[in-house]
Amino acid sequence: MTTPPHVPVMLERCLDALEPVAERWMVDGTFGAGGHTRALLARGAKVVAIDQDPHAAVHAAALDADLRIAGLTDPRERFRFVAGNFRDLAAHLRTAGLEAVDGVLLDLGVSSMQLDEGPRGFAFRQDGPLDMRMRGEGPTAADLIAATDVAELAAWLHKYGEERHSRRLARAIVAARDEAPIDTTGRLVDVIQRAYPPGPRRDHPARRTFQALRIVVNDELGALEEGLHAAIDALAPGGRLVVLAYHSLEDRIVKHVLRDRGDVEPRTKRPLEATEAEIDANPRARSAKLRTAVRHVYAPVPEPAGATA
Ligand SMILES: C[S@@+](CC[C@H](N)C(=O)[O-])C[C@H]1O[C@@H](n2cnc3c(N)ncnc32)[C@H](O)[C@@H]1O
Repeated sequence: MTTPPHVPVMLERCLDALEPVAERWMVDGTFGAGGHTRALLARGAKVVAIDQDPHAAVHAAALDADLRIAGLTDPRERFRFVAGNFRDLAAHLRTAGLEAVDGVLLDLGVSSMQLDEGPRGFAFRQDGPLDMRMRGEGPTAADLIAATDVAELAAWLHKYGEERHSRRLARAIVAARDEAPIDTTGRLVDVIQRAYPPGPRRDHPARRTFQALRIVVNDELGALEEGLHAAIDALAPGGRLVVLAYHSLEDRIVKHVLRDRGDVEPRTKRPLEATEAEIDANPRARSAKLRTAVRHVYAPVPEPAGATA
């Protein structure tokens, strides 16, 4: 058996929380290489899968072909792939002719393919064009660096990277960019490493800067907030929402939306994490934080206008 290009994280936990029911539709809002989708299909569910990365369509086509080999003459009856953003979930479901679904899964962040395959610019350990666009359109990270100033860049690094040395790094990056464009990951890493204060550190000095730029390039937190509301709106009564976050900024948004909506019941007070065994086998599971919620069966009855005791 060949190793999948992306190993699905906390797969059994996700399936337990989603409780797929045979012949009922679910949404996988972050298809990637389709690991979670394949497991949902294997349990008998039907899946609308969404991914904004055009490369994900290759994995969707492979899944489509496998369904045909398994004897399905029209795989669209069980599996549909949409190239798009999960923030537009309502429109994607309308196009698919669906009103409500039994479950929505969002496995956030980047896939192993985006980190490892080709020159996508997400990885600080590989040299390549400083791109970072998941959907392959719009301004790249290099474009943002070329057009920003120290104050704005420092604000991004502070807010989206939680980088302690945000101003120092922003000054170094803007000074280097004014000498020559920073258009490769290697050059950005080099500038950061030179500017970073010496001393013990827990992670790579460029990790937080790369996280911040990726979030800005793809408007990841804006899409997450909108996508969570769209996902909850799309759930049938009793439907399940499962979200895998990979850093504290994402997890905080998930926690607050689930707590504040009023029409879902969070099922995880604290996020669940991967086991040591899973982390040993798949280091990308290390930072995963899984939260789940169930859509209320009965909508709260609004107070009639003017009704006061
Ligand atoms: C961690 S991977 C998902 C891996 C997948 N669960 C699997 O088993 O292969 C995240 C995927 O979500 C996609 N993605 C991230 N944000 C998105 C968004 N707002 N809308 C649609 N897709 C998104 C990325 O392009 C990436 O392919």
